[in-house]
Amino acid sequence: MSQLFYAMTMPGLETLAFSEVRASMPDAELVKFARGIALFRTTSTPEKLLSLRTVEDVFCTLAHITSLGHEHNALRVLHSATLHADIRQAVAMWQRAHSGKRPKTWRVVSQKAGSHQFRRIDAGQAVTDALQRVLPRAMHLAKDEADVEFWLWLYGSEALIGMRLSDATMRHRRYKQEHLPASLRPTVAAAMGLLARPTPQDIVLDPLCGAGTIVIERCLLAPVERALGGDIREEAVAMARRNARSASVRASWEEWDARALPIEDASVTRIITNLPFGKQIGSHATNVDLYNALIQEFGRVLAADGLLVALTSEDRLWEMMLRDHGWRVVKKIVLVVLGQPASIFVAEHV
Ligand SMILES: C[S@@+](CC[C@H](N)C(=O)[O-])C[C@H]1O[C@@H](n2cnc3c(N)ncnc32)[C@H](O)[C@@H]1O
Repeated sequence: MSQLFYAMTMPGLETLAFSEVRASMPDAELVKFARGIALFRTTSTPEKLLSLRTVEDVFCTLAHITSLGHEHNALRVLHSATLHADIRQAVAMWQRAHSGKRPKTWRVVSQKAGSHQFRRIDAGQAVTDALQRVLPRAMHLAKDEADVEFWLWLYGSEALIGMRLSDATMRHRRYKQEHLPASLRPTVAAAMGLLARPTPQDIVLDPLCGAGTIVIERCLLAPVERALGGDIREEAVAMARRNARSASVRASWEEWDARALPIEDASVTRIITNLPFGKQIGSHATNVDLYNALIQEFGRVLAADGLLVALTSEDRLWEMMLRDHGWRVVKKIVLVVLGQPASIFVAEHV
């Protein structure tokens, strides 16, 4: 029987994440998108849901309320919806997702946006009170860390009450042992990998690889002919190499200047990269020269039918560079990275 789930994504990646859901679970039916959320039905198992790579967290939906009032009475609606949810089935699903482990503790996490005549804390308490009545006695309410987390997401007149099936390893990954400042979230790197339309013949390059996240995520997403990454900083290359080893990914790593790559003309089919934003790394002034040099070098090493997928917060600068150097933007996705708006540009050389 199909169940209602929701996936939380980085805002901006909802539709892409749902296309990953559909690719791995063909029976999945979209119910709706909200900011950072894709709500869908599927008969798939929790294991399958937890293997999604563009998603930050996966929840089994206990209640979806669409016309919640803004007055105090809404608390009763939240309480009643929780009370009547199929908690037993949700707990069984959580156990399945956690290799049969018996949950001992639980807590409620609440998020609220919009104006209501009650506080976020009151809404969370309404859900907590109901859960206290229906959860098995062996499960205890915890203050901070808990085995099971129930999340209340309340946005204006819409509410989702869900049980979190994932844990932090879904979004942080187990392989990522080391981080660099400005290191990319793995789910965003995976989204960039998907946007690069993977094929097994791909020769993938990240010329500014940092800790290696993009190359690693692309290799974990789908088969690849060859993968290469490099960075101007020796410590970044060493870290990328260690992260790749820990992810069991085979790729070549090199210290280089991406403005003059030791790579033959037209020899790679995909360039996927996270450009320096000019905030933590570089500045707008240095980016003008850097981006200009990079776009020319990318044009040299990319095969004629290749794709360039680049993430930057310097939207206007990058768009201008692409246009001035004869590239066509086939897709642009706007998202928030490290607290600032940024865009993923998918471009072809024309
Ligand atoms: C935004 S970070 C990339 C982060 C990476 N995606 C990650 O997840 O760790 C940009 C990277 O570009 C590198 N970089 C800056 N200028 C470079 C250049 N001229 N050649 C190669 N790498 C460069 C920096 O050392 C930095 O690691």
